[in-house]
Amino acid sequence: MNKQTYKFSSSSVDYYLANGISHLKEIVDQSSTIIVTDENVYNAHTKRFKNWKTIVLKPGEQYKVQPTVDNLIAQLIEMGADRKSTLVGVGGGVISDITGYAASVYMRGIRFGFIPTTILSMVDASIGGKNGIDVGLYKNMVGIIRQPSFILHDMVFVNSLPQSEWENGFAEIIKHACIKDAAMFDELEANSLKTYQSKKKLLCELVERNVVLKTKVVQKDEFESGDRKLLNFGHTLGHAIENMYAFSHGQAVTIGMTYACLISEKLAGFKESERVVSLITKYGLPAYTEFDKAKAFDIVQKDKKKVKAAMNYVLLQKIGRGIVKPIPLDQLEKIIHQL
Ligand SMILES: NC(=O)c1ccc[n+]([C@@H]2O[C@H](COP(=O)([O-])OP(=O)(O)OC[C@H]3O[C@@H](n4cnc5c(N)ncnc54)[C@H](O)[C@@H]3O)[C@@H](O)[C@H]2O)c1
Ligand SMILES: [Zn+2]
Repeated sequence: MNKQTYKFSSSSVDYYLANGISHLKEIVDQSSTIIVTDENVYNAHTKRFKNWKTIVLKPGEQYKVQPTVDNLIAQLIEMGADRKSTLVGVGGGVISDITGYAASVYMRGIRFGFIPTTILSMVDASIGGKNGIDVGLYKNMVGIIRQPSFILHDMVFVNSLPQSEWENGFAEIIKHACIKDAAMFDELEANSLKTYQSKKKLLCELVERNVVLKTKVVQKDEFESGDRKLLNFGHTLGHAIENMYAFSHGQAVTIGMTYACLISEKLAGFKESERVVSLITKYGLPAYTEFDKAKAFDIVQKDKKKVKAAMNYVLLQKIGRGIVKPIPLDQLEKIIHQL
């Protein structure tokens, strides 16, 4: 089996990228493994769960909350899960977050792994060991940083992925290109979503490149004191816009990236906003929206990444080179109003 092992501060993670769910039984002991998935994934791929003990949760962000974890834990107890059990989250980022979190607190922590089934969870949510749940309006307010034992990919899952979820995933891929990988940015410009959807090999290579990119950023800075902040590119105003309007996460992030580019022009000498906007548009994502500036600033100010009177903002010096710059809040307020 094709395997790469990546070391993090307190553990290492085995990545089985070009393999498939049929290899899962070579990684874990089937009798002591419990799969956690959601109804959408289970209904579209039922036969792949045959012979596996499986817990099927309701799909959606609104279920990424403590009552779902309580219910999952009750089922684990009922099924006799013990310290030797392994949980495998098969699904999008909601499932990996719930599985990683529940596995980290069940009996003070049992082994877990992920089979991500959305582009977003392959290139982003499954990597890095942050797993948490939402509390009221606060996203990812409670959780842990603990690495999974393994990540396994099976591209067959994306056959059932809705178009909107492809776009969400590509928003994070474009983000990665902007902050760290100019050559990937060129590749994305030369291709299109349709190309990646029809050419599995090209998609696998792109996904792998993004997995490695995020992994390296996290390896350098597992506990988010420096480089890992770059992954928040587009997410500051993006989160505010996601909170206020009916955009998906990916859509809010691409809008946030456009505005971060405009701020980068003012504060970091960036000159390529037009290219970023064209790429975002090419992948079916929005680049602009009208928004309530005062309300957005208010939400940004409450963002947990705030440091005293300045806010760490991720800007671009050029495509492929992101930087973190503290912007004094009064200056940021003025800039947001001028956007
Ligand atoms: N832990 C982290 O570091 C991290 C990073 C980024 C995002 N996240 C979290 O990830 C979540 C978003 O992840 P997501 O976009 O994968 O969301 P998701 O898990 O809600 O999946 C999106 C939708 O697609 C469905 N789905 C999943 N796989 C499918 C498939 N193969 N075929 C058909 N339908 C499928 C799901 O049921 C859901 O309706 C958020 O909760 C976010 O906070 C976590
Ligand atoms: Zn994101």
